[in-house]
Amino acid sequence: MTGLVRTAAIGAPVARIDGPAKVTGSAPYAFECRLDRPVYAHLVQATVARGWVTAIDVTAAQALDGVLFVLTHQDMPRLASDHDRELWVLQSGQVWYRGQVIGVAVADSIEIAREAARLVTVQYQAEPHEVRLRADSQDLYKPQTVNPALVTDTAEGDVAAALAAAPVRIDATYTTPAEYHNPIEPHTTVAIWAGAGDAEHLTMYDSNQGASRIAEQLAQVFGLNPSRVTVISPFVGGAFGSKSRAKAHQVAAALAARQAAGRPVKLALTRRQMFAGTGYRTPTIQRVQLGARADGTLTAIAHDAISQTARFKEFAEQTALGTRTMYAAPHRRTTHRLAALDVAVPTVMRAPGESPGMFALESAMDELAAACGVDPVELRLRNEPELDPETGLPYSTRNLAACLREGTRRFGWQHRDPAPGTRPADGWLAGTGVAAATYPVYPHTGGSQATIRALAGGRYRVEIGAADIGTGAWTVLTQIAADALEVPFSMVELQLGDSRLPAATPAVGAMGTSNWGSAIIAAARAFRARHGHQPAPDDEATAADPANPSAGKVAMHAFGAQFAEVRVHADTREIRVPRLLGVFAIGRVINSRTVGSQLTGAMTMGLSMALHEEGVTDPRFGHVINGDLAGYHIAAHADAQDIQATWIDEHDPHYNPMGAKGAGEIGIVGVAAAIANAVHHATGIRIRELPITPDKLLT
Ligand code: MOS
Repeated sequence: MTGLVRTAAIGAPVARIDGPAKVTGSAPYAFECRLDRPVYAHLVQATVARGWVTAIDVTAAQALDGVLFVLTHQDMPRLASDHDRELWVLQSGQVWYRGQVIGVAVADSIEIAREAARLVTVQYQAEPHEVRLRADSQDLYKPQTVNPALVTDTAEGDVAAALAAAPVRIDATYTTPAEYHNPIEPHTTVAIWAGAGDAEHLTMYDSNQGASRIAEQLAQVFGLNPSRVTVISPFVGGAFGSKSRAKAHQVAAALAARQAAGRPVKLALTRRQMFAGTGYRTPTIQRVQLGARADGTLTAIAHDAISQTARFKEFAEQTALGTRTMYAAPHRRTTHRLAALDVAVPTVMRAPGESPGMFALESAMDELAAACGVDPVELRLRNEPELDPETGLPYSTRNLAACLREGTRRFGWQHRDPAPGTRPADGWLAGTGVAAATYPVYPHTGGSQATIRALAGGRYRVEIGAADIGTGAWTVLTQIAADALEVPFSMVELQLGDSRLPAATPAVGAMGTSNWGSAIIAAARAFRARHGHQPAPDDEATAADPANPSAGKVAMHAFGAQFAEVRVHADTREIRVPRLLGVFAIGRVINSRTVGSQLTGAMTMGLSMALHEEGVTDPRFGHVINGDLAGYHIAAHADAQDIQATWIDEHDPHYNPMGAKGAGEIGIVGVAAAIANAVHHATGIRIRELPITPDKLLT
């Protein structure tokens, strides 16, 4: 995969077209946009977890040389819509969580703004708060639906009776902590509020996962006609879900810009601030019960998940979703319960639901394999369903078995000694583990549009409000357009990341390439039908991604198999992961280089989840104690050793005209379980509580 690749055919490892701009530092990220006479904003944040601001004094802050103004709720006009209470910024003195935005200081420099924010003095009437997720909480409740809009509970057969009658039974509780996205580029936005009345216009240079959606949300909050809001986001330095919807900081910047008389307001959150108001993965407490015959054939599966939400806005993680489709068993149950706490709102984070949920299920499957004396790969093969257990529908494609077999061969799994804790080498204990992965394929919404326009000299421009958050969309969409138009890659000029372009769905749910690519193909077909192969400059056609005719007729999911090798130091219990192998069934791969990066990146994130990541909230004060990159460790080079991703040849005939499924999220799924299972194999110790830190192995 090295050297110049001159063919841009679908599947080819085309190098990123945005690569040179990024490595030379010329790619304009939001904060770097060059504008005249910018001012800088810094957020003032609540220091109690629940209560009311009773007095807020900005006198000292205002008196600082270089300060323009400090906004608080005391003199703030009403926003137009409170449909999203995260965006109901500075509208009252009520405090819902520690770190909530309660003021905005605006000054001539970043440093002065920050100092001004520090000088704001606040008095509170604090109320008792609860920030801890507990299994024994008395006020757990059942949400109406879980994300994205799925039934909360499912039940088939008589699970209790089947579990009671099962010759082999596993009943275990697994927990996962709060995790924070930590993209390299912080949440940044630059807001310009120009004109008034009919000429009023809000422009945002903003780091997000979908300029169209952010523009729509801001227009709603401010009661502006959508044509009066422009969001510009050509380059985004990572997001992982944390930039999928507008957050308080964007509203705060826009409020400041409205006050700043046309001057651009620049706002970049600090790393610590990102631990307060940009979302996080909810902690989970999950009980998994499996019933099986002696040979490992499942008779019953129950997965009961508890997670948290904010008291002021519901977020219902779909933790047990993966369990609904994984294995054949006549008796099955999944449930979700929420604890409403005095915390910031959790949000989607790479494979929301599946990442924590499959840690639990796939750890339990390993426990079952041990209990039955069946090889863990073989156990999964024995429980392959013919039809989707949840819907009874045939799968569009289900190649989990092929992934497990290919992984077995490549990893050398067949040579594995099944007994745990028997392979010391140079003071280290060695072990291997496996886990399955799945991620759903969400049918098309018709939510993306693309325009194809002929330029001079046989060139074409493709316009779509898509987002490249570091995934490769710039390159992959250009490939898809060139293929659909039957022209060389170099003849296509793509535009994305701007709300003035045809509206498109955000980069979420591993749907980007599918939604946007389908829209581009539809537009290319419409273009050729209307203008033929010899168009005149400015000939154009626009089309949306068509509704999926297979929706509701087939079950569509991506699958994968994760293999891990670990070393646990016999004395110190230091844990190393010398090898990870992921084999995926993700439909047709459009660009083997960018997909390879997506998958190995996600697997690294899974390693990080397995061994390192844990946001610790202080129950007394409600803040994240380790809220920076010194205290919250994410896997770095020294942690990531040999991480390989590969995929089997698959072409999904149902999801989209490319034959592709999503690749952005499945790579993280199952990694933590594979590592936990390998740790068990190495030590004989079963860790059911992430992250797997050395102290938990010092028994
Ligand atoms: Mo992605 S976690 O669906 O934004």
